[in-house]
Amino acid sequence: MTLRMFAADLLVFSSILSAAWCQSVLKVSVPKTLISTSGSCLLIPCLFNISKEKENIPDSSPVVTWRRGSLWKLYDTDDFTNTHHQMEPVMEVVGDLGKKNCTSVMRNLSSQHSDRYYFRIETKTSTMIDTKAVYINVSDSLAEPDVTVPVLREGEKVNLTCTAPAPCPSHPPNVIWAPALGGDVTQRTRMNADGTQSVSAILNFIPSFQHHELKVNCVSIHPLHREDKPLLSHKSVILSVECEILTQHSL
Ligand SMILES: *[C@@H]1O[C@H](CO)[C@@H](O)[C@H](O)[C@H]1NC(C)=O
Ligand SMILES: *[C@@H]1O[C@H](CO)[C@@H](O)[C@H](O)[C@H]1NC(C)=O
Ligand SMILES: *[C@@H]1O[C@H](CO)[C@@H](O)[C@H](O)[C@H]1NC(C)=O
Ligand SMILES: *[C@@H]1O[C@H](CO)[C@@H](O)[C@H](O)[C@H]1NC(C)=O
Ligand SMILES: *[C@@H]1O[C@H](CO)[C@@H](O)[C@H](O)[C@H]1NC(C)=O
Repeated sequence: MTLRMFAADLLVFSSILSAAWCQSVLKVSVPKTLISTSGSCLLIPCLFNISKEKENIPDSSPVVTWRRGSLWKLYDTDDFTNTHHQMEPVMEVVGDLGKKNCTSVMRNLSSQHSDRYYFRIETKTSTMIDTKAVYINVSDSLAEPDVTVPVLREGEKVNLTCTAPAPCPSHPPNVIWAPALGGDVTQRTRMNADGTQSVSAILNFIPSFQHHELKVNCVSIHPLHREDKPLLSHKSVILSVECEILTQHSL
């Protein structure tokens, strides 16, 4: 075969390949990384588009699944059905597929479920998968909550904010301040830009000289499915209160 013929063959081959590939192209939008803890659940915010879509996805009774990167070569083999099936977490699509929403919940997590996950749609006529994955990190411990303390001046009302992620929105963490410094605490659930959620506890109080060098703790208490005992994580801060500035005028 001459080089020229080979090049022509390659061209034909690649155009066949691209024609098959282009029949339906699935594009999935998911966060790059998500973190949850063993015994909890995890909400995966997910939206998708299909270009060159030939059928209405919800009407085609699709099989939608998430596949693990590390088990890739084993799917669709007998070995998989027999021995690896139990390595897959329980996953449920809770989004409306008709609205191109593939938001899913993983339940009963363990650290062995940490992996790259790919969303896959299988209809009677095609199987679609995006090469973009979400990396899921399931750990046995929690990261510290995030604490924001503004400049504290004696007598000036301020907010101390403590935020913890809520990877499993059906079982959100309880975020508390201790001691509460005689102030009011408000809890808020916030939706982040990537579709994940967080819970904040906002402590509104009036600093006084008695609070100077006092240690306050923010504690986030995460309920777990598996055990009766919740998982705790905390962050302590030492307050520094500035004195009221007495100007020449007020003296
Ligand atoms: C789907 O298409 C819409 C309109 O073109 C676009 O705004 C959106 O970002 C796309 N979503 C994904 C997941 O690619
Ligand atoms: C996708 O579905 C989830 C679960 O029902 C919902 O909370 C979320 O708001 C939906 N996202 C969009 C963009 O509609
Ligand atoms: C949850 O996981 C544990 C161990 O990982 C297993 O023993 C249990 O059967 C699972 N529960 C459900 C409801 O899948
Ligand atoms: C997974 O999360 C834990 C706790 O947040 C962190 O220590 C660890 O580095 C993360 N691992 C990866 C691979 O991101
Ligand atoms: C403190 O938080 C409360 C409640 O969220 C808010 O109404 C108030 O404006 C905040 N005050 C300051 C100084 O940020």
